[in-house]
Amino acid sequence: MTYKVTAVVGARPNYMKVAPIWRELEKNDRVVRSLVHTGQHYDRNMSKVFFDDLRLPKPDVYLGVGSGPHGEQTAKVMFELERVFSSGAPDLLIVVGDVNSTMAGALVAVKMGIRVAHVESGLRSFDRTMPEEINRMVTDIIADLLFTTEPSAEKNLLREGVDGSKIHFVGNVMIDSLHFYRPMAERSTILDDLSLAPGRYGLVTLHRPSNVDDPEGLRGILGVFDELGKDCPLVFPAHPRTRKIMNNNKLQVSSERLKILDPIGYLDFIKLMMHARLVLTDSGGIQEETTVLGIPCLTIRENTERPITVDIGTNRLVGVSPERILEEAREVLGGRTRPGRIPELWDGKASERIIRVVDEYFR
Ligand code: UD1
Repeated sequence: MTYKVTAVVGARPNYMKVAPIWRELEKNDRVVRSLVHTGQHYDRNMSKVFFDDLRLPKPDVYLGVGSGPHGEQTAKVMFELERVFSSGAPDLLIVVGDVNSTMAGALVAVKMGIRVAHVESGLRSFDRTMPEEINRMVTDIIADLLFTTEPSAEKNLLREGVDGSKIHFVGNVMIDSLHFYRPMAERSTILDDLSLAPGRYGLVTLHRPSNVDDPEGLRGILGVFDELGKDCPLVFPAHPRTRKIMNNNKLQVSSERLKILDPIGYLDFIKLMMHARLVLTDSGGIQEETTVLGIPCLTIRENTERPITVDIGTNRLVGVSPERILEEAREVLGGRTRPGRIPELWDGKASERIIRVVDEYFR
């Protein structure tokens, strides 16, 4: 007996989570699989480049929803996906992470009687002003299979009343990708292209609405990067959201000490991370990747939904005050780093475990 599985991607952090799951699905001859791209992210360097780097197949369905306010974007995904499923529904929808496409996909599926698996379930920042927090909570409460990356996630889910039998601690699919693509990333020429020497630059990313949507707040953080660049040159592939606000407010120009780039592909980014002296970020996934790579990471946020990266990894939460960020970064540059450990089951085999559970579920 075969069963149909559809995986959904929408935004940049989804592609590297779905790629290893897709490979496992391909190995299973009971599975009839399809891939949906919502089009939440659509620029070449936010989408196509990742499909190429990760060798993901062209999506079977492209919804083309594009950007917009949260309600509109979520509704568009729901409207389009419901139409697609009306003419042929899968038995299981796999959604990953916490973007609007994740929640929208789960909502449509559950109302059509399609089972939902949520990968990277149970993470909580306990900050409801983050759109991702709402997406995580809604998705988790309606999903049938919840796959977790770290012990805190299971605790959160149980506290929220989720039936424990739905929860499966499987590890981290983003780390599956890190293991799988690392040899390919090593061959990237990005360091030479940017004239960077291994271990002698910092890598920066910044895109959270709370850090970038207010131009004055963003100016403060960019000022830190500029200052820090005097001690250690920084590379900053800027998210389109951030770039737009920088341009509209004439906030910062690229220089030798703070190289501002357009978004870059997966393999180039992994290579930049692997050889960085430190990473400054407000991303979720990068906190995890740096922990596995053993690279010091300073997270420019007041909270994290990935506490294990702080408890045992190389991640430090440094808040958003420019003085504090600068002080903490100088500590790292001064050599005051701490060795991290790799969290349990972050071993490159999470997707294998996930598909084993799924297969058992449909037996
Ligand atoms: C989304 C996710 C966030 C994730 C981030 C990773 C939600 C609520 N947020 O945030 O969790 O960390 O992706 O990148 O789902 N834009 C482009 N080209 C694109 C995509 C976006 O120019 O291909 C610009 C548009 O101006 C758009 C803005 O970026 O309005 C924001 O895009 P959106 O998808 O709404 O949220 P992100 O900030 O990318």
